[in-house]
Amino acid sequence: MTTRPVDRTAALDPNWWRQAVVYQIYPRSFADANGDGIGDLSGIISRIDYLAALGVDAVWLSPFYPSALADGGYDVDDYRDVDPKIGTLDQFDILVAGLHAVGIKMIIDIVPNHSSDRHAWFVEALAAEPGSAERDRYIFRDGRGPNGDQPPSDWESVFGGSAWQRVPAGQWYLHLFAPEQPDLNWSNNEVREDFLTTLRFWGDRGVDGFRIDVAHALTKDLPDELPSQDQLHADGAFAEGAHPIWDRDEVHEVYAGWRKVFNSYDPPLAAVAEAWVPAHRRVRYASPDGLGQAFNFDLLQALWDRDQFKKIIADNLELAGRSGASSTWVFSNHDVIRHATRFGLASDELDADSLLPVAGRDWLKDGGPADREDRALGLARARAATLLALALPGSAYLYQGEELGLPEVADIPADRRQDPTFFRTAGDQIGRDGCRVPLPWTSDGPTFGFGGSEAHLPQPAWFADFAADRQDGVLGSTLELYRRALELRHRLQGSEELEWVATEPDLLVFRRPGGWLSVTNFGSEPVQLPAGEVLLLSEPGPIGLLPGNATAWLQES
Ligand code: NOJ
Repeated sequence: MTTRPVDRTAALDPNWWRQAVVYQIYPRSFADANGDGIGDLSGIISRIDYLAALGVDAVWLSPFYPSALADGGYDVDDYRDVDPKIGTLDQFDILVAGLHAVGIKMIIDIVPNHSSDRHAWFVEALAAEPGSAERDRYIFRDGRGPNGDQPPSDWESVFGGSAWQRVPAGQWYLHLFAPEQPDLNWSNNEVREDFLTTLRFWGDRGVDGFRIDVAHALTKDLPDELPSQDQLHADGAFAEGAHPIWDRDEVHEVYAGWRKVFNSYDPPLAAVAEAWVPAHRRVRYASPDGLGQAFNFDLLQALWDRDQFKKIIADNLELAGRSGASSTWVFSNHDVIRHATRFGLASDELDADSLLPVAGRDWLKDGGPADREDRALGLARARAATLLALALPGSAYLYQGEELGLPEVADIPADRRQDPTFFRTAGDQIGRDGCRVPLPWTSDGPTFGFGGSEAHLPQPAWFADFAADRQDGVLGSTLELYRRALELRHRLQGSEELEWVATEPDLLVFRRPGGWLSVTNFGSEPVQLPAGEVLLLSEPGPIGLLPGNATAWLQES
């Protein structure tokens, strides 16, 4: 493994995030140092060399806070501590210092829409009377019906089932996600102030930025007479920015306050919004007066189709320009089916609920029989797609394991599943466990080098084929492709311009400053490569040709 020299000036660069490659770590599934089946901070510390050799610029650490794991850690008991199951604050400091020492920044997840039901505030709220200051930190309502035993509205939670939960013989509280995730009341000043304290707490500990969970749901405006679920979802029922729950304009007042905190650090802290809003509404989240950047999940929902890719890229570059931010590119994360599988599922349309090709839902439910999944094709397209995205201006967000070409694990038995979506929909939505299976580091051993004798989610036998040690140093492996791509990107990356190059229908070709050319063949037949020195190919092919489902990087003379 070679590691590029640490660039000390990048540490002080206020724009470091604009074209950063950010590697998402889902801590419980990355590396388990103490062998209890759950990944931990020491496990991550032991893999800092791996991250440095991969060549990423930053790590985004998904929640590591104390949590009962009702939603994989997005149910936070305490925003200013580390889950004892996975480490300590001291280990967190060692991790940040270790990453910084090799030139890698640290972004952490902030979950402001809801706490967990074990958070001290919620415990106090339950012990307090209706109408009390303690209850006002959450969203409590009386129930309907003579005994108040009907929920305040028919709203469904994102994970299925009612969005209201009753406390014993009392009021109901709102939970847009699981019942263990009560929504906080962002009209309450104490809630607002406390999050500023949390941001400073982590900023002072040396983190470089934040990923903001459900950034578009914080500020709600719930009238006494609540609209129905149908009204909530009806097109045009509410003016833009005035929906009772999602994407209200006032949320930007919150982020303007956060920005002041971010800018009190040197360099300013970075932030990226997870905001599922229409593309044009992303601009405000990404504004320099707000969070500064917002995820664009468009490629994550795209089929393998040249025209779709081209439009998404062009639209997002334009939107990013409008906000003053850089764009983000992401194919995989802890919430969606891995892209090496997605691109190998036969389908020509997407299922809106699951963000999967329509074939994907049935494929997952059936435990992934191979006839609907072309694994080789999926991997080839995933490699090509990643290479394409890594040539774009903006930040690229990678999800742990994609550098191994890891497919989704479909055949997880029901009694080993963890995702609340699976349980709250009685298995109708299979959930997200299949992309959260602990990583294979070695091709042998009880947990493929993850640690311990049994991982918290079962790893299939075929994980051996994707293990990091099988790919390390192997020319053409996905791991070596990612390493080489990140090394080259670092060297070639200049200003943020992109120029489209006109070509035949199946090809997508663009030029970056300095004559860096990216050519993707969305078709299945090989095509002639344009003139230039070939720097990298996602699939090998005869000299001068680019195979189908492949990307090449070239240097024009
Ligand atoms: C988005 C996160 O990415 C997801 O994993 C989580 O379940 C929800 N927000 C709720 O926090």
